[in-house]
Amino acid sequence: MSVTLKSPGAGEVQFAGLSQRSRWAADQAISFLMQQGVENPGVISLAAGLVDESSLPADLLRETAAELLQEPAMARSALQYGTTQGRLDLRNQLVGYLAEQEGVPREELGVDSTRLVVTTGSQQLLSILCETLLDPGDICIVGAPTYFVFLGCLAGVGAEAVSVPLDANGMQPERLEAALTRLQSEGRLERVKLIYVVSEFDNPSGASLSAERRRAVLDIAEKWSIHQPLLVLEDAAYRDLRYAGTPRPSLLFEDKSRERVIYTQTFSKSLSPGLRVGFGVLPRSLQKAVLDRKGNEDFGSANFPQAIVARLLRNGTFRGHVERVRGAYREKLSAMLSAAERHFSDLPGVAWGRPQGGLYVWMSLPETIDTGFDSPLFQTAVKEFGVMYVPGELCFAPDARATNHMRLSFGVQTPEGIAAGMERLAGAVAKTL
Ligand SMILES: Cc1ncc(COP(=O)(O)O)c(C=O)c1O
Repeated sequence: MSVTLKSPGAGEVQFAGLSQRSRWAADQAISFLMQQGVENPGVISLAAGLVDESSLPADLLRETAAELLQEPAMARSALQYGTTQGRLDLRNQLVGYLAEQEGVPREELGVDSTRLVVTTGSQQLLSILCETLLDPGDICIVGAPTYFVFLGCLAGVGAEAVSVPLDANGMQPERLEAALTRLQSEGRLERVKLIYVVSEFDNPSGASLSAERRRAVLDIAEKWSIHQPLLVLEDAAYRDLRYAGTPRPSLLFEDKSRERVIYTQTFSKSLSPGLRVGFGVLPRSLQKAVLDRKGNEDFGSANFPQAIVARLLRNGTFRGHVERVRGAYREKLSAMLSAAERHFSDLPGVAWGRPQGGLYVWMSLPETIDTGFDSPLFQTAVKEFGVMYVPGELCFAPDARATNHMRLSFGVQTPEGIAAGMERLAGAVAKTL
């Protein structure tokens, strides 16, 4: 099986009049990966970033939807169009939810419901922000590695991603400073608009930004706001999925001005991606532009799922649910880490992260081993051993491409499936080594 990166349904014939933006957005890895999962049903997928099927809250959502629909006024409002910014009852609940995560009373959060926007998953906000902030040739600083769908969003608007290496504590501030110094010496500082950080249990590296580094990143963003404000985009998609360690304040909360950070979070991982409810906290200076753009896209995310999330937050059932979800993932993470210990510790030059949350373990192989779709390892893993992973190279911007890593997801498989998948993968790696 030889694999080339094409979007599903992509034919040989292409409409000749495609826009530049369509060409920039062509052949994104995410669509290809989703397709691979569907086309290879016998394979244990450690690739898919889907969530644990058994903890999807069917009963809870059936009851909540029924309750909503039984109340005539609520039913009418939930089934009607809403506003571009999102339901006020949900935004009010989200303020309380954020305050709880920061460990402060609501009044001390420094953010009210007017600052929030509800989006169709956090992905929509990531995409809208790229459209709103970045012209072709503008620069966004990203981690190496980083969330590959965001790299697609940057490419899709013709922006450039400049990489800064991560370690177990997230983006390295000295390397960030060095990148900005270099961009300044190249006369390109005025093109730098954004620093993108996945602050908790990063996809793919699993790393979380340490408390000191959160402050350092904010200080650096402030210091380098020479030509225009350099904003920090904090993607906290996995914040609810902590299985060990102590929660930390977000960069949003660390930024006392509340104007430097754009914050995004989602209920896709903690509740259900089928509802696709995400939200953002925006600097005041960006609110109008983001809502104008969202107005063009959908003039408001679907109202019904928003009403459901608002109710689950209000009656406290979300909290109980997320506790159960954490329990399931804690067990899966532990299954993956002990299987890694069992099957990989004797393999020379193989190393992996030990995240405290999220859905991913990042594994590095010796630099001579290529993990890409067309590599002998990927082919052997899928065809001979029946296991699939995400090639790490997808998670690097072109300026930092490394080809010897794998992203392993523990979200979908059962603990037994994870153990079997890791054993198979170790077989494929040992064979390739
Ligand atoms: C880091 C990160 N951000 C954002 C998202 C988008 O999720 P959603 O649009 O479902 O909220 C994902 C999904 O995998 C992710 O991994």
